[in-house]
Amino acid sequence: MLASDEDNTAYRVIVRRLQLASVLFVTNALEQLKDYPAEKIEGHFAKYYDWCLKVQDDLHNGALPHLDFDDWKRYAEDEDLRNDLFNRIAEENADGRLLVRMGTNLAPVLRKEVDPLQLMFGEDSVLQELYKNMVESGNLPALLKAYLDIVHHNSVNLKILEIGAGTGSLTAPVLEALSPNAADDGLPSAGSAIATYTYTDVSSAFFERAKERFKKWRNVLEFRTFNIESDAAEQGLELGSYDFIFAGNVIHATADLKKVLSNLRSLLKPRGRLVMHEGIRQGSEAPSCLQPDQHVLTLLPRRPPLAAPVFWPIVRMVAQRRAEPEMVSIHFQGRMGCGAPCSRI
Ligand SMILES: C[S@@+](CC[C@H](N)C(=O)[O-])C[C@H]1O[C@@H](n2cnc3c(N)ncnc32)[C@H](O)[C@@H]1O
Repeated sequence: MLASDEDNTAYRVIVRRLQLASVLFVTNALEQLKDYPAEKIEGHFAKYYDWCLKVQDDLHNGALPHLDFDDWKRYAEDEDLRNDLFNRIAEENADGRLLVRMGTNLAPVLRKEVDPLQLMFGEDSVLQELYKNMVESGNLPALLKAYLDIVHHNSVNLKILEIGAGTGSLTAPVLEALSPNAADDGLPSAGSAIATYTYTDVSSAFFERAKERFKKWRNVLEFRTFNIESDAAEQGLELGSYDFIFAGNVIHATADLKKVLSNLRSLLKPRGRLVMHEGIRQGSEAPSCLQPDQHVLTLLPRRPPLAAPVFWPIVRMVAQRRAEPEMVSIHFQGRMGCGAPCSRI
C-alpha cells in the first residue's frame, strides 16, 4: 500500500467534483454548438467533438461511472450551483483552474475562435504548476527520492537522458538527488553521480527557461531537441550509451507505444534503466472519470481524444533493459509504484 486510505478518499472527492464539472462543460459546449455545422469542426477538433458526443450519450445512458444523471441535471439546471462548483474547483488546484479555463472556452476553441495553446501556456504558469503537482502527487516524491538516493550512493559518471523534459518538473528532483552539492558557480560538484544530463524535448521552446532554472548544474547539462517517435540515431543520440532515461508524463503523448519504447531501449546501455512517470487507466475498484489535464490536452493536435472518460492515476515505473527475447516484446522488465489515487502496486 503506497498511499493512505484518507489520501485516496480525499482525492476521490476532488476527482468526482472535477468529473462533474468536466461533463457539465462538455454538455454546455454541445448546447452552444448545436446550430454550428459539424462539418466545419475539422481534424483533431472533430475527434474531440465526437468524443464529447460520446460523453453526452454515456451520461444519458447511465454509462458514466460515478456520475449520476440526476446529479448532473441538478447542476445543469441551476446556474448558481454550477458557478459555485466551478469557483470551488478553480480555487482547489492548477488542474481545476485549467479545467475551468478550458471548459468555459470549449465551444469557441472548437469553432477555432480561440487558440487553446494560448489559454494553456500563454496566460500564466498553470501548466507548469499542473505538471509539478503530478510529479508531487501522493507519496511519489518520497518514493522517487528513496530510489534516487540508492542510485546516488551506488553510481558515478552516469550518463542520463531526459525525454519530454518540458518545464522540468521531473528534472528538479533528479538533479537534486543525484548531484546535491551543485553550486551557483556551475563548477563540477563533489559527490555528483552525473557525468552528463541531456535535457531533451520535441520542442526547444522550453530550453531558455530550463537553462536559467537549472544553471547550478550547467557543467553537466546539455540541451537538445529529440522526438521520441523518430529514430534516435538519426537525431544524433548515441545508441546503447545511457545509464538512465527519465520520462515525466511524455510517453502518453505518442501514437505508437511499442515503437517509442523500442526507440528508448536502443539508447540504453545493457541493464540501463527507464524511469517513467505516467498516468494509466485505473482498475475497476477506483472511480473512473475524466482527468482534467488529459481532457483539456486532447485539444492539442496529435493527441487522440480518449475513447471514454477514464481516470488516470499517476504511476511511476522503473524498467530495466533486458536482452532476453522471451520478455515482453519491447524487452523491458519493471516495477510500478502508484501515487495517491491508487491503493496498490
Ligand atoms: C505533459 S508534458 C510533460 C511535462 C514535462 N516532463 C514537464 O515537467 O514539464 C509532455 C512533454 O512532452 C513533450 N513531447 C510531446 N511529444 C513528444 C515527442 N514525440 N518527443 C519528445 N517530447 C515530446 C512536450 O513538448 C511536453 O513538454
